[in-house]
Amino acid sequence: MFYPQEVIDQVIESNNIVEVIGTYVNLTKKGSTYFGLCPFHNEKTGSFSVTDNGDRQMYYCFGCHKGGNVLTFVMQYENCSYIDALKTLADRAGISLPQPDFSREESIKAKKREAVLEVNKEAAKYFYHLLKSDRGKTAYAYLKNRGLSDETITSFGLGYSDKYRDDLYKYLKAKGFDDEVLRESGLFRIRETDAQDYFWNRVMFPIMDTRNKVIAFGGRVMGTGEPKYLNSPESICFNKRNTLYGLHVAKKNKGGELILCEGYMDVVSLHQAGFTNAVASLGTALTDGHAAILKRYTSNVVISYDSDTAGKDAALRAIPKLRAAGLSVKVVNMKPYKDPDELIKAKGADYYRECLKNAQNSLIFEIYCLAEGFHLDDPDEKTKFYNEVANKLSYFTDSMEQDNYIQAVSKEFNIDYSMLREKARRLTLGNNNIKPIVPREQMPKKTAEKSDALSMCMKMLLAYMAKEPSFYDNVSKIISESDFLLSPYDIISRILFEQLREGRLQPGNIINALEEPESQELVAEIFNYGLFDRMEESDLERTVNDCVIRIKRNSIEYQLSSETDLSRIIALKREQERLQKFNVFGRNN
Ligand code: GTP
Ligand code: MN
Repeated sequence: MFYPQEVIDQVIESNNIVEVIGTYVNLTKKGSTYFGLCPFHNEKTGSFSVTDNGDRQMYYCFGCHKGGNVLTFVMQYENCSYIDALKTLADRAGISLPQPDFSREESIKAKKREAVLEVNKEAAKYFYHLLKSDRGKTAYAYLKNRGLSDETITSFGLGYSDKYRDDLYKYLKAKGFDDEVLRESGLFRIRETDAQDYFWNRVMFPIMDTRNKVIAFGGRVMGTGEPKYLNSPESICFNKRNTLYGLHVAKKNKGGELILCEGYMDVVSLHQAGFTNAVASLGTALTDGHAAILKRYTSNVVISYDSDTAGKDAALRAIPKLRAAGLSVKVVNMKPYKDPDELIKAKGADYYRECLKNAQNSLIFEIYCLAEGFHLDDPDEKTKFYNEVANKLSYFTDSMEQDNYIQAVSKEFNIDYSMLREKARRLTLGNNNIKPIVPREQMPKKTAEKSDALSMCMKMLLAYMAKEPSFYDNVSKIISESDFLLSPYDIISRILFEQLREGRLQPGNIINALEEPESQELVAEIFNYGLFDRMEESDLERTVNDCVIRIKRNSIEYQLSSETDLSRIIALKREQERLQKFNVFGRNN
């Protein structure tokens, strides 16, 4: 739930930050700033500052560098969500909140989803690397022993999760991922004191969506152990009920039939044997969502579930859902083999191809299953069975299709055709079709190059501009907000420049426009930058000038790298030359 910016601004403006924080922290006034003991870290001298000077309503700790506006303070202190903090402060000021704005929520969700996908991708790469390393020897042998080729292992990106319980966590932390996104991915159990991997010492099956993004994992124990398979918990990008394993490859057989089986290994084995049209629902019963997705890629599904009773029952539950989605369904008989994986290992691909060819129409399959529940030697039981069959045949909306089925069933089960037809017609009912689910759109991701030195320059320049608003006139002659290419400086500079043009600095509003706590703290740091006070005038000027030049040079280079218009290229080259002698303070170098 999100609210229009004006409302958020109103809530913030109606809550004086010194008054609010004053209810939590003992504050003492020194000059125009209030100081107290920081509530976010343990300290004996107060380095926690609060300013309510005009529009500069913010807090900043010189010790732990936490900072933000009144809203982020409540969030951090109460450990609550943005919305809850907003509600608390709205209540406090007697403001009633309007209906929330959902489009913004969607875009934030999309961003989070992208971040989790990034975690999954790195995890998958790491698991794969482990499998091929010394530490993954047992796992690799396990997969080889199950008959998988190196090519199959690579094409499914199979991997291994190490036996140390925080191996992946440590690896991803070192890569710079923060706890929030790691927690969101579902791959970890992160607590105050420690963090544990969800998967350890398992063979890993990355689960891909149809855009080839890793959205989750399945992990199998090697040998016996419980649970045999473990799936990632549901997350912002993983919904079991709408995911089919192997679909990212199988979908390429567009139009042809799809084979629906039960497990990871079935899909992998079938693909290896050339049946690249196999998919599996992940240990869960087939849902209407699965059926709707299948319908997007095909009109014909062949069920190849396990041959045991559980598999048969699962097929009986899946059939009506598939049919309701408009799919034509058949069922493969693999007896005496348990599942496609075992059948292929025992008899080979050609044998399975024969099974597919002989797959039974799903209605005939249903009626065979039905017959198992009756003693057909007994006349009463036989009547009941016929009634059930007629009932089954009554659900067709197309009378020609219905008639074809009545013919086929009467032949297969030796039931009088006209009697069956009469019974079925009398029972014919309307049928409700289930609408397919429309997939959600995903936001494209903007990538920015990373550079510590460059981001330091951006931070310093913005800090200087926040300290000396009149400096804007000089800076704006050479640099605009669009030259700040690194995130979140791109957003910070855009708003800061706008405020400088209007002659009204409001750090609280900048903080508010940013979602990540790190970015919000960065704004507080920019507005409380202490370094300049300790610098000599000449050093300071040189430093700021250097920042301007580096930011601009980077921006020009970036533009040149993609510019194709010759006159633009020349103009950019000129600017580059001009930059060499440039001094933002108007001094001669
Ligand atoms: P293999 O023994 O590796 O050949 O697996 P299988 O596919 O033959 O196993 P099974 O028929 O027992 O299970 C079919 C599918 O159900 C698996 O691929 C999993 O997706 C799922 N599954 C099986 N066991 C478990 C379990 O213990 N927990 C969960 N969540 N899913 C399971
Ligand atoms: Mn199996």
